[in-house]
Amino acid sequence: MSSDVVLDVQNAQVEFAGHGGSIRALDGVSLQVNKGETVAVVGESGCGKTTLARAVLGLQQLKGGSISLQGESVRGTTRRMAEKVGIVWQDPYASLNPRWTVGKSVLEPGVLTGQEKDAREIFTEVGLDPQMVTRYPHQLSGGQRQRVAIGRALLLKPPLVICDEPTAALDLSIRAQILNLLKNIQDEHDCSFLYISHDLTTVRFLADRVAVMYLGQIVEVGLVEQIFNDPRHPYTKALLDSAPTLDKLMHLPDAPPGEIPDPREKIVGCRFAGRCVNAQDRCRNEAPSFVTEGERSYQCFFPVRK
Ligand SMILES: Nc1ncnc2c1ncn2[C@@H]1O[C@H](COP(=O)(O)OP(=O)(O)O)[C@@H](O)[C@H]1O
Ligand SMILES: [Mg+2]
Repeated sequence: MSSDVVLDVQNAQVEFAGHGGSIRALDGVSLQVNKGETVAVVGESGCGKTTLARAVLGLQQLKGGSISLQGESVRGTTRRMAEKVGIVWQDPYASLNPRWTVGKSVLEPGVLTGQEKDAREIFTEVGLDPQMVTRYPHQLSGGQRQRVAIGRALLLKPPLVICDEPTAALDLSIRAQILNLLKNIQDEHDCSFLYISHDLTTVRFLADRVAVMYLGQIVEVGLVEQIFNDPRHPYTKALLDSAPTLDKLMHLPDAPPGEIPDPREKIVGCRFAGRCVNAQDRCRNEAPSFVTEGERSYQCFFPVRK
């Protein structure tokens, strides 16, 4: 493995016990994030994005496969994990302790790893008035709270920062500011980002590469311009056609009843076949494996061509 690989996910599998069977939230996900790179993970709600983030943080046990950070296997959470990966969740209010000053929250990764840091310095770095360190989360606006969460994720300058829908809970007017902050951080630090979002516009703005997820699998991964300008997987194409947000995905052709696979069942054939405009008999009977074309890979027998 090249030392440029910061995050290496190999065939990760996660199952949840559900009524009438287990749900395969990750069904063989492989993904690499290289040094200094931003890889976006996009896909509809429920496709497994947060589960992937939790697995990388060691919060979610794998049923199969492996995940390593800088060559070291992730097994459960340890204090040292705070040095390797920072996390920004969707809802900063939920991820900050309401009884702690935001200054104390921002320093938490340093306390966990025995490193002394200056909260005021990191506040300045994320565009907050350093005098705010003595405030409590409820005294800040949503955008300010997310800046605190970003500051905490960056405190130890970890090699990887995961952002799970970091702007989804914010007002539209604040989103652009937070995105610009993330962009500046990308430019200034050489940390890598795993950027999870269902908002394609922000993905295009921030990502170097994009992985498209559908029902627990990555169906296509490639450079941002390949994914946006010349997608191969019909699901990727459908996402782009429904842009700017995936909320409009409901406009996909309706699948006949029973044709969207139940994640509790072992899926035969391509999992997108029931909604796919290109689907043929083969797609319903045989699971496609990855086809690689240069920097891009996809799982499809009948890919889209320009
Ligand atoms: N703790 C859990 N227990 C049971 N099922 C879960 C749990 N967390 C997630 N799931 C299920 O796993 C699938 C993927 O969820 P998630 O990773 O949250 O998707 P996303 O972040 O893409 O919206 C969904 O079907 C979801 O209902
Ligand atoms: Mg999620």
